[in-house]
Amino acid sequence: MITGATSGIGLEFAHQLGARGHHLVLVAPEADRLEQVCAELAGTYGVEAEAVLADLSVRADVASVAERARSVDILVNNAGFGLQKWFLDNERAVEEALLDVLCRAMLVVSHAAGRSMRDRGSGTIINVASVAGWVAGGTYSAAKSWVIAFSEGLATELASAGVTVTVLCPGFVRTEFHQRAQISLDNLPDALWLDARRVVRECLTDAGEGRVISVPSRIYKGLAWIARVAPRRFVRSGGKLTQHRPPLR
Ligand SMILES: NC(=O)c1ccc[n+]([C@@H]2O[C@H](COP(=O)([O-])OP(=O)(O)OC[C@H]3O[C@@H](n4cnc5c(N)ncnc54)[C@H](OP(=O)(O)O)[C@@H]3O)[C@@H](O)[C@H]2O)c1
Repeated sequence: MITGATSGIGLEFAHQLGARGHHLVLVAPEADRLEQVCAELAGTYGVEAEAVLADLSVRADVASVAERARSVDILVNNAGFGLQKWFLDNERAVEEALLDVLCRAMLVVSHAAGRSMRDRGSGTIINVASVAGWVAGGTYSAAKSWVIAFSEGLATELASAGVTVTVLCPGFVRTEFHQRAQISLDNLPDALWLDARRVVRECLTDAGEGRVISVPSRIYKGLAWIARVAPRRFVRSGGKLTQHRPPLR
């Protein structure tokens, strides 16, 4: 099961897991796009691709996804979106929806899937965080910090049950994410952009080896290390850079 499977990193997980012969359960909020992606993946890889229509900011939808997650072998909690505005300039409802999608949905779905996996003695959970989880840049960054801590705790809880938990912490990845959030990154050096195929490939290798934290690429491994050991006042200035960019024209 992959949440947010119709675009970017989630769609790439669907491709790479489909290519390995896994049947797919894809979760997303837009019916037409979801049906189209399911049909394409089923046709390309000869696997079953089941569509679960859900807006993960809606509690009833999250409950249905959690119910379906009880019988999956691999869960990828990936769905998410970004914020362009400073916390106090943004609508509170949007900030709350971000927590619902990035954190609450992950908690509820992982609880259902994790219990079943523990009972069966096998399973893989991959939670998508971000290197932003190690800086301090608004609700997005705070939510990703929660994802990292939550995933590390769950990994420890499930370690003796034969279930692995890996938290993926990418840097900037070329997807629809920044365009949707109206975040302009025109001046970001090419070296800091990652390709979703590489991010997912490295993450699946790390998950296969039972690694708890997956940071794709050497450059972001280095930056993540610096963010974890640097004095917090420097980390806070880094967080400032992740916020308040001019909107895309
Ligand atoms: N791109 C980056 O630079 C980057 C870096 C670090 C971490 N991440 C994380 O990676 C994950 C995937 O992001 P991406 O870059 O692949 O972005 P993306 O291309 O915008 O894809 C986001 C996916 O999440 C789905 N989604 C959004 N809101 C949802 C909701 N309320 N309920 C259910 N599904 C929802 C979208 O569905 P629709 O297409 O139907 O809207 C889409 O399938 C996110 O958790 C993001 O925080 C991204």
